[in-house]
Amino acid sequence: MKKGKVDALLGIVFGDEGKGKVVDVFTPDYDVVARFAGGPNAGHTIIFEGKKFVLRSIPSGIFAQDKINIIGNGCVIAPDLFMAEAKELEAAGYELKERLHISKRAHLILPTHRVLDRAYEAAKGKAKVGTTGKGIGPTYSDKAARTGLRIGDILDGFEEKYAALKARHEQILHDLHYTDYDITEEEKLWLEGIKYISGFQLTDTEIEINRYLKEGKNVLAEGAQGTMLDIDHGTYPFVSSSNTTSGGVCTGLGVGPTDIREVFGIFKAYSTRVGSGPFPVELFDETGDKLREIGHEYGAVTGRNRRCGWVDLVALKYAIMINGVTQLIMMKSDVLDGFDTIKVCVAYKKDGKVMENMPFETEGCEAVYKELPGWKENLSKLTEESQFPQEFRNYIQFLETELETPITILSVGPDRAQTIVRK
Ligand code: IMP
Repeated sequence: MKKGKVDALLGIVFGDEGKGKVVDVFTPDYDVVARFAGGPNAGHTIIFEGKKFVLRSIPSGIFAQDKINIIGNGCVIAPDLFMAEAKELEAAGYELKERLHISKRAHLILPTHRVLDRAYEAAKGKAKVGTTGKGIGPTYSDKAARTGLRIGDILDGFEEKYAALKARHEQILHDLHYTDYDITEEEKLWLEGIKYISGFQLTDTEIEINRYLKEGKNVLAEGAQGTMLDIDHGTYPFVSSSNTTSGGVCTGLGVGPTDIREVFGIFKAYSTRVGSGPFPVELFDETGDKLREIGHEYGAVTGRNRRCGWVDLVALKYAIMINGVTQLIMMKSDVLDGFDTIKVCVAYKKDGKVMENMPFETEGCEAVYKELPGWKENLSKLTEESQFPQEFRNYIQFLETELETPITILSVGPDRAQTIVRK
């Protein structure tokens, strides 16, 4: 009998909702923080006590000294990037080798996976996904094709296995006539990363997590990317290559659905998207620019401008349904301060047809809005719900009614302290 539970914390739109900050706030309530999908395409920013860290592969629970952090089997890892990220944390005084456990079943991102990522994007012409260029798609492709290399392979006959997969990639690149690349320096660092990572605890994390649950320990599953980037449920083909949704928690950590208790869905008080793909709420006017500027909406991994728009209830309702979200967390509410009116997308319209449910294809859909009055107060200074301006209360209430799910936590600024838990 397992006494502990898994709670999932998921970005439920296009990623970049601010998961890093919330995991960091939640961590004291859990014994273990685990990543279950994705890799260094993620960029989880955490700001506290005037310091800023961007985590890519390492779970955000790493800042609490007594917690176990797990990179689960559903993740993909680039040893060179992992080494850079880990060394930065070690230099800042965080001990990792005891507390960070990596699944032997997680897949390795090779330097040639990154070249393949570029080659496939180049070959796509106008239909580019706009990937982060971290080799995510090609690595998950090798996983599905049963040709990938896993962390556990580092422990046995690695050189041969690496040479074979690299040769396979080189052949594909040759066939694609994509030969203008040089990975010499990158590969040196990558091999150094392999050596470095082998000094960590490479374990059967699925067995470990289930043991923790039996012992009554609670696990926080930290999502990456967002529901609309899920390989099955997102805006395919403009998606990432893993299951970013709550089903991915089970497959990416090796826990059963009955082990999951709460599913926290994080969204921003407005919408953003990086990379290509349909985005019905996208604003091309000064309001979009204003949201980007006030919200500092530039990619944590690639530095690209994020596309901005009003909040999208069609996407949120779909995400709540797919993930079985039990509680919502609204981030960056303060970015909406000062707008005279705030719009909310309540439906999509295409060829004269109004749709409240997520259609198969969102390309060509226009947003149908409802307008609500804005507020002039500065939310970032508020510390409790009783101080909220009435218009902000109305905004929250409207969203809760439409989404049929409570918003239990509100973030009003980047710092840990600017988080209001509603009673
Ligand atoms: P990939 O995951 O690098 O293959 O990129 C696929 C798509 O997902 C691109 O549109 C990326 O911009 C987007 N993406 C990947 N990771 C993140 C993330 O952590 N936040 C937001 N978008 C992401």
